[in-house]
Amino acid sequence: MRQTLVVGNWKMNGSRADNAALLAGLKAGIATIKKTAVAVCPPFVYLSEVATALDGTPIAWGSQNISDQLSGAFTGEIAGSMLKEVGCTYAIVGHSERRSIYKESDADVAKKFAAARKIGLIPILCVGELLEEREQGITEQVIGRQLDAVIALEGVAALSDAVIAYEPVWAIGTGKTASPEQAQDVHAFIRRKIAALDKAVSERVQILYGGSVKGSNAKELFAKPDIDGGLIGGASLIVDDFLNICSAGE
Ligand code: 13P
Repeated sequence: MRQTLVVGNWKMNGSRADNAALLAGLKAGIATIKKTAVAVCPPFVYLSEVATALDGTPIAWGSQNISDQLSGAFTGEIAGSMLKEVGCTYAIVGHSERRSIYKESDADVAKKFAAARKIGLIPILCVGELLEEREQGITEQVIGRQLDAVIALEGVAALSDAVIAYEPVWAIGTGKTASPEQAQDVHAFIRRKIAALDKAVSERVQILYGGSVKGSNAKELFAKPDIDGGLIGGASLIVDDFLNICSAGE
């Protein structure tokens, strides 16, 4: 049985004051969350403070990105060893905003996935199609290609220590959630694709859904057999909304 996982991706939001209030609220409410694993991914500069605030609580933390390099002259980049040092459990790789705005290719994302694993971080590999790709009926082709880049570099077994997040780009920050059936179809496709290579890995890997998840739709999404939790953007910035989503996994 896969554990439900809910991860808050704060994106480029927050301030010391906002984070302190949000974390205090989460810490106060987390006692009611018994079965669901919970993590937050703040901007890099706040990771140390978040680590201090969350140390000793059941809430884990992770980064929103990671360098594909180990160390050296890479101005502006953050190495996996640094993330590990501030206690990160997870590193998000290949978020659609990184792919589309910062032009990260499937190969770039695969290298970041490898860098995270090398240092013992759990990569959260984001995949998802654009609206026009869904309309063209090539959703599975796009997601298959995004997964293949990682499998080609790291092998399918690498996915057993990883998390996959299916985030249809048209559902991110738009208020338009994929229906539980639409999401389940893609999650089942991902699991079938992995099962064709390694059944045990396919049964183990957690596949999260992301894109306009709210307290009101989380329960129905998480009830689907291949949806193992959520990667939450906007709603992860509001204590009650995020805790409601976490409790949907209970
Ligand atoms: P929203 O929940 O704001 O749609 O964002 C989803 C997302 O991109 C999480 O990584």
